[in-house]
Amino acid sequence: MHKINIAIDGPASSGKSTVAKIIAKDCGFIYTDTGAMYRSATYLALKHQVPLTDEAALVELIENYPITFKQTDHRQLILVEEQDITDAIRQPEVTNNVSEVSAFPKVRAHLVKAQQKIAASGGVVMDGRDIGTTVLPDAEVKIFLVASASERAKRRYKENQAKGIKSDFDTLKGEIEQRDYTDSHRATSPLKQAEDAVLVDTTGMTIAEVVAKIKEVTKEKV
Ligand code: CDP
Ligand code: CDP
Repeated sequence: MHKINIAIDGPASSGKSTVAKIIAKDCGFIYTDTGAMYRSATYLALKHQVPLTDEAALVELIENYPITFKQTDHRQLILVEEQDITDAIRQPEVTNNVSEVSAFPKVRAHLVKAQQKIAASGGVVMDGRDIGTTVLPDAEVKIFLVASASERAKRRYKENQAKGIKSDFDTLKGEIEQRDYTDSHRATSPLKQAEDAVLVDTTGMTIAEVVAKIKEVTKEKV
């Protein structure tokens, strides 16, 4: 298969990482979760008590603690200094502060450069908010996934239930809407559909149906 790059963007819980992982596995491509990079920066700032308003200190933190991805048979692990932070970066405290950290232009510049390096030789499925617009503007396939806020909150609620985490549907929905608003309204590379991206509204679609739709688009490019 041709080593193309596939960019998958969209708001929180639109299904990006779930379908990106499946597509990457099926195509023999590398999956890169760029949200994990912004989450790691936020996690490290909270851990080292770096003020989330201090852009220079945040950049220094990212430089000092680069993250690495490690593929195991079952899942992709996120490591910093060989320590597994895969679950730690999904904690609500990180989720509720990540949009503030990811809005800083210098934080973005640093991470975008790292993401472009990963995709330089092709064969990458990358998900995020600005992959089609900023990180990989020349990606052969660009997908923009959306779903109603209620459906996305329902998905997160079910995910929490399966993990034994208690949550309140309305609170989850409110947090998702707030994060989408902040991500879409920041000045530097906001969450936005690229002009040449294919829009897929996944409301009411199963994961298999979304994967099939993306493969249909991809088929024409490989
Ligand atoms: O999985 P979920 O949709 O909850 O979020 P994520 O993909 O892990 O991304 C977490 C946050 O990182 C987003 O809400 C954005 O603030 C930021 N992000 C970004 O700004 N640009 C990206 N390419 C990816 C994530
Ligand atoms: O990466 P992103 O935040 O966009 O979403 P995700 O973590 O891939 O998906 C959030 C949840 O929705 C997961 O539990 C998926 O299994 C579920 N999902 C779904 O129920 N139907 C879809 N079409 C896509 C995802």
